[in-house]
Amino acid sequence: MSSRDRLAFALDYPTLVEAKRGAALVCESVGVLKVGLELFIREGPAAVKLGEELGCDVFLDLKLHDIPKTVDRAVASATAVGARFLTVHAGGGPAMLAAARERVDREGAKLTLLAVTVLTSLDNADLTAVGVGDPPGPQARRLAELAVASGIGGLVCSTAEVAALRQVVGPDAVLVTPGIRLGGGNTDDQKRTGTPAGAITAGSSMLVVGRPIRDAEDPAAAARAIAQEIARAT
Ligand code: C5P
Repeated sequence: MSSRDRLAFALDYPTLVEAKRGAALVCESVGVLKVGLELFIREGPAAVKLGEELGCDVFLDLKLHDIPKTVDRAVASATAVGARFLTVHAGGGPAMLAAARERVDREGAKLTLLAVTVLTSLDNADLTAVGVGDPPGPQARRLAELAVASGIGGLVCSTAEVAALRQVVGPDAVLVTPGIRLGGGNTDDQKRTGTPAGAITAGSSMLVVGRPIRDAEDPAAAARAIAQEIARAT
């Protein structure tokens, strides 16, 4: 994988016009465009088409978490619009995860499912508040094992857990790490953060970066610097 393919830019913009402008600035260094809730709810499949226009894969980050049949049918829709990656919450349980996996197989689609373990915005206290007694590390491992047992090897996790989860999924699975920060600065609402080099050396396949690129004075230069850091750490 090239360093470009290992960098996903979160298109966290309210409109297609702004997303396209933001993506065009960075697509020289970024191989994957992540379309999340903010953009997809307003713009729908047109946002996914941006990938084709700009020569990037599209990561549809809708974090599906519903009853198995609903997720099964949503996965079919995601394959129809041309997403290359799609997120589901591992916490949706074994039947939901298996339904998603089976639907991808039935469609014969080139779609990689990624099971979200523990959101990078959550810490110990947040997990306690929702009734999870374990800290993020063991909880992420439990959810990773569940995802793998349900046929989903791709995972989303924080840089703190990626080395341990790599042991669970093996060398070929796609491990995606959001919560990337360049060190020392503002972490926004993220609580379990890591640097680009730290994520790569710990075993991440792909880094998701949003605000550190989107809100940079020079987004193209910020994306280029992160891609260079990925290349150096590889
Ligand atoms: O701006 P920032 O780099 O924090 O953006 C991170 C992106 O990754 C956001 O679009 C967020 O929805 C997504 N994400 C995350 N944590 C996860 C899964 C996805 O932050 N566990």
